[in-house]
Amino acid sequence: MSSTAAETQGHLAARAATVIPGGVNSGQRQVAGLENLVIASTSGSTFTDATGRVFTDYHAAFGPPLLGHNDPDVDAAVAAAGRSVDLIGVGVTQVEIELAERLVANVPSLEKVLLTATGSEATFHALRLARTATGRRHVLKFQGCYHGWHDSVAMNVISPAERVGTKDPLSGGILPEVIDATIVCPFNDAAAVERALDEHDVAAIILEPIPHNIGTVLPQPGFLERLRELASKHGTVLVFDEVITGFRHGLGGYQAVAGVTPDLTTLGKAMANGWPVSALGGKAELMDLFSTTPGRPAFFAGTFNGHPATSAGALATIEKLEREPVHEHVFGLGERARTGLQRLYDRVGIPAVVSGFGSVFVSYFLARRVVSYDDLLANDVDLFVGYRRELMKDGIFELPLNLKRSHFSYAHTEDDVDRLLEATEGAVARHLETRE
Ligand SMILES: Cc1ncc(COP(=O)(O)O)c(C=O)c1O
Repeated sequence: MSSTAAETQGHLAARAATVIPGGVNSGQRQVAGLENLVIASTSGSTFTDATGRVFTDYHAAFGPPLLGHNDPDVDAAVAAAGRSVDLIGVGVTQVEIELAERLVANVPSLEKVLLTATGSEATFHALRLARTATGRRHVLKFQGCYHGWHDSVAMNVISPAERVGTKDPLSGGILPEVIDATIVCPFNDAAAVERALDEHDVAAIILEPIPHNIGTVLPQPGFLERLRELASKHGTVLVFDEVITGFRHGLGGYQAVAGVTPDLTTLGKAMANGWPVSALGGKAELMDLFSTTPGRPAFFAGTFNGHPATSAGALATIEKLEREPVHEHVFGLGERARTGLQRLYDRVGIPAVVSGFGSVFVSYFLARRVVSYDDLLANDVDLFVGYRRELMKDGIFELPLNLKRSHFSYAHTEDDVDRLLEATEGAVARHLETRE
């Protein structure tokens, strides 16, 4: 990188910091050591920063570009819709109808579906709907799961050890009553859920069926089935937050893989390959409580909901996922990477558990089975973050933040995996040398 290019990037970052608090538009984008990072362009499996450095991108914006950045089919559909039908704010457009039909056809739990713009909106409406339907107060979430920025769920994600088992809000400004009305259980602990349902009036159980916000903690055999049974028994609404797992793990989401059907499902991220669209769907008897049906009690609105251009992007994404062997390709790359990484750590004698599902992978540096968040407290954070910083020197980007997962897209290749394996070995070794 030339010093002029670095100065230009530094100058842009300084301008950003002057007018944007912290210089970025989401708290998770401010990463130690990357304060000056300015992204200039993206293409397929890569992004380029303002100094001209090209990185193979495994961060993938926390998951949306499943087809790769700037997918030509999706982008053409968005542009075409943008030229022909703009946002109106009354009635419905044909593309919204077609998208809803496609979603209902693909995702097992969806009898009816509403469109929103972000995952947080979808989970917000899911919980409000559950409270409306049941007349109950509490919601139950799991330590390590993230469901967006709103008050009922913005807590207990990547908690420090001393906060596990207590309420750990992500933000100030949340009313104590709201924090109090959220119950947090350990993932994979059905007995804890059963106790909570016995003791409290729980409107909804909400979970990522695979908690990917802490990498990948797989549900133990029978856990999702048991949640289904308990929710049905107690009249509690079961919400699968498939904002990450939806589309990425299959057109029917992880619920189709697991064979467990929730009452409500939230979708987002990969749904339109990076364009802002999300959805909430589920049983008709619940969805029909929304005020989109006149006189019904659960208020639902949003200026940008069902935007024709982003809806067209979602439809084009789904059509491509149906038409082309996208899942076969990304699952193959994921498997190759996970197997290769585990072999590599075993060979060089570094305690590690390589986890993941489908296109997602993560290397935890610990020596124990990973069943719940507690196990991840043993992760060697310094190595986890340190080798990722080293990887950037090889033009490879895995987000250097503790427990964050990495993703393959349709645009990645087997050569990318091989380069990743070779570079990871070097990056881990170099990082370990620095702390000897
Ligand atoms: C599982 C899950 N649910 C909900 C959200 C919130 O989505 P958004 O950031 O689009 O509001 C996220 C975001 O990372 C997520 O990972």
